[in-house]
Formats: sequence, C-alpha cells, structure tokens
Amino acid sequence: MNKKPIGIFDSGVGGLTVYKEIREQFPNEDIIYFGDTARVPYGPKSKNNVIKYSIQNARFLIQQGAKIIIVACNTSSSVALPALRELVEVPVIGVIQPGVRSAIKHTINKKIGVIGTEGTIKSEAYQKAIQNLDKSCEVFSAACPMLVPLAEEGWIDHEVTHLIIAEYLSVLLQKKIDTLVLGCTHYPILKSAIKKIVGDNVNLVDSAIEVAKQLEEKIIHRGESQKGSSKFFVSDKTEKFKTIGKSIIGENVSPIQNVKLGESWYLT
Ligand code: DGL
Repeated sequence: MNKKPIGIFDSGVGGLTVYKEIREQFPNEDIIYFGDTARVPYGPKSKNNVIKYSIQNARFLIQQGAKIIIVACNTSSSVALPALRELVEVPVIGVIQPGVRSAIKHTINKKIGVIGTEGTIKSEAYQKAIQNLDKSCEVFSAACPMLVPLAEEGWIDHEVTHLIIAEYLSVLLQKKIDTLVLGCTHYPILKSAIKKIVGDNVNLVDSAIEVAKQLEEKIIHRGESQKGSSKFFVSDKTEKFKTIGKSIIGENVSPIQNVKLGESWYLT
C-alpha cells in the first residue's frame, strides 16, 4: 500500500477538471495539486520555457512526496513528457494519449477535430498520436488562444464566448467532424457553450475521464475507508483560482498555499 499522494499540475485552474475526476474515482487517495498561476498561460510560451516550467512543477510535487505525476495540461503534455520521463523518478501520465484513445473509440466517420492552445496545436502532438493509432482518421485542428482567458475569467455562458467559439470552430464544422477533442484542460469549463455551438451530433472528448482510467492501472488502491486529503499549491495566490476553482470542483479549493519555484529546480 502506498500512502504517498498523487501529484497533479497545470498552468492554472484548468487542471482542476482533471483533479475533480481523479478525486471522484479515488476518494481514499491523498492528492496534491499545483497551479502555476504566476506563469499562466503556457499556450503562447516557447517550447523550452514550457519544458522548464513543467520540470520545476514536477520536481516541486515530488519534493512534496508525490508517487506519480499527472500532467493535467495539454501544452505541457505535448512538449515536455520525454524530458519529464527522463528527469523525474516517478511515473508520469500526460493527457494526450488518454484523449486520443477516447476520440478513436468515439468517431464513426473518422473525422476528428482537435482544439487546443497555440503550443499544443503547433506541436501536432494529437495529430501524430491519432495517426499512430489509426491511419484512416483525418484530423482537423484549430488553436483557440482566447478560450483560456475566457475560462479563467469565468465567462462560461457569455454571448462573447459563444461568438468566439463559433468563429474558432467554423472550419472544423465545415469538415463534418463527428468528434471534437477538448485539447486543453481549461476547455471543459466551457463545455456547455461548446456543446451549444457543435450540437448533438459531435462527441466532445474530455480527457480527464480517460486519465482517471489510466491511473486506475497504475495505482494500488489504499483499501482504507478514510477520505483522502487534498492540498492545493499555487505560484500566485489569486481570487480567481478560488472562485473559478470552486465552480469546477463544486467545493471550496482548500487549503491553498503559495509557493515560489526556484530556478535551481530545473536541471538540464
Ligand atoms: N490548461 C492548459 C492546457 O491544457 C494550458 C492553458 C494555458 O496555460 O495556456 O493546455
């Protein structure tokens, strides 16, 4: 039995969509979450900086005792997994593969849309992973840089949000996709607005559920009846993390502690 916590990180609140699913599936596990709120967004940042931040975040979680790292950020998962797997001493699970498996399972016409940050789309991580598993799938992708600030702002059902989503998705919908991967952990926050635009004929893939399934294979259940604890760490304690976080996980995000990640945590 391993009583060490599960460590999860994202650039901000988005990864709480993954935390919520893991918390539900593993009620007895201790979980520590790190949101890099001082450096959000990761999407427009260079690959090297995203790799550097990801290593620092993972090292911090390991210092806190994490037995496994969940990279609850598509931008980090797209570019930093090889470095993380090489440099950290615990298993690392990203969000891309789980999302890809789910998309392939759901698509019927084999036309899959992927939306994500500029970093994720530019990396072509989804495209490559989908075609690795099923060459007959066509992948259409679109970077949606304005969706992270809208989600962080809490503009979940705002007219402006609907207009922006419709604009971003218009080309993908013209391609007749039947499955749309929400390739950013912030996007499930806007799921109902996205659903309104794509309609009932397009499946939305939220990788959080698939990540929890993959974790099931790695975690030995504690088999204890007591409730697992949750601790949240951020690099900048903001009101937004609390308010948006509460709307995602359905309860107070607590306790939250502020941490400063040192440059020395990044070793090449
Ligand atoms: N939530 C993150 C993702 O899944 C990134 C958002 C951002 O920081 O740009 O890609």
